Amino acid sequence: MNEVNYKNSKLIVESGSLQPGTVSWQSPSNIAIVKYWGKHGVQLPRNPSFSFTLSEAHSRTSIRYEAKKTLSHEVSLQFLFHGQAQASFEEKIKKYFSSLLPYFPFIRQLHFTISSENSFPHSAGIASSASGMSALALCLCSIEEKMFGTVKERPDFEKKASYMARLGSGSACRSIFSQGAIWGQHMDVEEGSDLYAIPFNTALHELFQDVQDTILLISRSEKSVSSRAGHQLMENNIYADNRYKQANQRLQQLLPALRTGDWDTFGAITESEAMTLHALMMTSMPPYILMEPNTLEAINRIRSFRDHHKLPVYFTLDAGPNIHLLYPKNIKPQIDRFINDSLKGLCSDGQFIHDHAGIGPVEF
Ligand code: DP6
Repeated sequence: MNEVNYKNSKLIVESGSLQPGTVSWQSPSNIAIVKYWGKHGVQLPRNPSFSFTLSEAHSRTSIRYEAKKTLSHEVSLQFLFHGQAQASFEEKIKKYFSSLLPYFPFIRQLHFTISSENSFPHSAGIASSASGMSALALCLCSIEEKMFGTVKERPDFEKKASYMARLGSGSACRSIFSQGAIWGQHMDVEEGSDLYAIPFNTALHELFQDVQDTILLISRSEKSVSSRAGHQLMENNIYADNRYKQANQRLQQLLPALRTGDWDTFGAITESEAMTLHALMMTSMPPYILMEPNTLEAINRIRSFRDHHKLPVYFTLDAGPNIHLLYPKNIKPQIDRFINDSLKGLCSDGQFIHDHAGIGPVEF
């Protein structure tokens, strides 16, 4: 494996010389085509995955840091979500920061005031951990850079941010890179690592560089089984080993399709991965279903629209009922019409979000 060792007990400031500051990052969500589902050890994936990095669905996070008033070993932070205190998120971030102490020992010297907002409604059922955790990881790397000047070069910065984001939420490590990213070792991906994602953007065919993703908000209710619990259930899933093999094969087929603009192969893999993900949920013990009746209805309508109009429009799902509709930009007018005529009515309050592969995180 491509190894790195980011543990560094030297990243400590001499008492008295600590300057306060603020760092801010906007970081997007991503949509996996080959899915990460199953993990082991400390946030290590059971198989490699590929995702497009989105744009409109993002988190904006600012961290103000200052010297702690009283010295303690506890992580000291306050978290505001859309300007409001959020005890459950605050607890989660405290745990995350504590887990990063071997990498960023200066965390113990600081008090953090974190404010974060999502561009999408909290109740939209869009996974926010990828955008939220990647934004936090980027902010921490910026703090390291400001305090110690140790992560100056962009590739080093991104690699480290991706590693740290992974420790917060696996899929978050892919959000660090514009357009597309691969996470996990694979025989065709020389630089691939289970520890961080790598960019797969310049290699994308132009038809995939600005791939469109319209997120159909089929249901906005809280998921009955979290992704974390879902990964755990893979450990005893009788199909797990074959699934991990299959993910490797699919990535092997997907990468050339992404390079050459082969929408047929891309679409076949994409839909099959979505179905497989949900089949794995249904074959877990206890089994569970996250799709809703309108998810299935939308899938049927998308397939018959495609057959009838011979247009490259495909769906994927993440671990929930919402549909991601993927298509090249040059057919957007036809797809807009299709959404308005046939799919909008299946969405909760008629809501959908137009997104697309984007420029990745931005500092602000
Ligand atoms: C179905 O990254 O949310 O979206 O590592 O436990 O935070 P944790 O899980 P998470 O799982 C994402 C699962 C997925 C597929 C994917 O994004 O690859």
